[in-house]
Amino acid sequence: MSEPLLEANGLGRTFREGGRSLVVLDGVDFTVDDGECVAILGRSGSGKSTLLHLLGGLDRPTAGVVRFRGRDVYAMNELAIDRYRNRDVGFVFQQYHLLPELSALENVRIASQIGRPRHRKRDGDTETRSTSPRERAEALLARVGLGDRLRHKPSKLSGGERPRVAIARGLMHDPAVLLADEPTGNLDADTGASVLELFAELHREGQAMVLVTHDQNVAQQADRVVTLVGGMLAPTPGSAAATV
Ligand SMILES: Nc1ncnc2c1ncn2[C@@H]1O[C@H](COP(=O)(O)OP(=O)(O)O)[C@@H](O)[C@H]1O
Ligand SMILES: [Mg+2]
Repeated sequence: MSEPLLEANGLGRTFREGGRSLVVLDGVDFTVDDGECVAILGRSGSGKSTLLHLLGGLDRPTAGVVRFRGRDVYAMNELAIDRYRNRDVGFVFQQYHLLPELSALENVRIASQIGRPRHRKRDGDTETRSTSPRERAEALLARVGLGDRLRHKPSKLSGGERPRVAIARGLMHDPAVLLADEPTGNLDADTGASVLELFAELHREGQAMVLVTHDQNVAQQADRVVTLVGGMLAPTPGSAAATV
């Protein structure tokens, strides 16, 4: 088998609070392959966000390794981790983290000021190197169905539109893998379903993704479902491919 795109081995994360240790992750093994969609289930407080942050270069493990295309992410220097965070992975935060003063367009475009987009070529991709960050941000917002909401600030967007802006921003660098933290967690059923359809479309186009969720509908569309319990990942009984 070829090398996984993203991989965790023996991943541990212990928090120290007021002299006490809280073991949240305790030997997590995990892989995502190119083009794969993996859902991570788990109850509230089971460590899903902690795991996703570790996968995305946003934290530091207390044990184990995260590898991206075989490279040990946390063995790299800060600059290289920063590059990893801002180019190789795209992150959709649980609360979206949109900047309230900026328009939808600016919120998406700002990602290009943090790390340079690579505009990775895909089959059938008509993009050229001359695409400006602004054009790319506009195209992504059109892609997520917000072509006529470019100037809206987050407060003027509906509950279903805000996550779309966050997803467009997560895609700005054409990341190898998109990491989304409970992307339908705050949405009503219909709105959640439409956001879910967007992830399904991206996945059909070959986008690799990790979706953290407690929504069974999200889990259903994944290639693979794993469950975080007791600080470790277990195959989910009854899922399509019950392997980690
Ligand atoms: N920075 C932190 N310091 C101390 N404890 C934390 C920190 N981040 C998360 N935790 C604790 O780790 C546990 C798992 O949190 P989290 O990963 O957010 O769970 P989930 O996303 O599954 O709801 C929780 O008990 C939480 O209180
Ligand atoms: Mg969480």
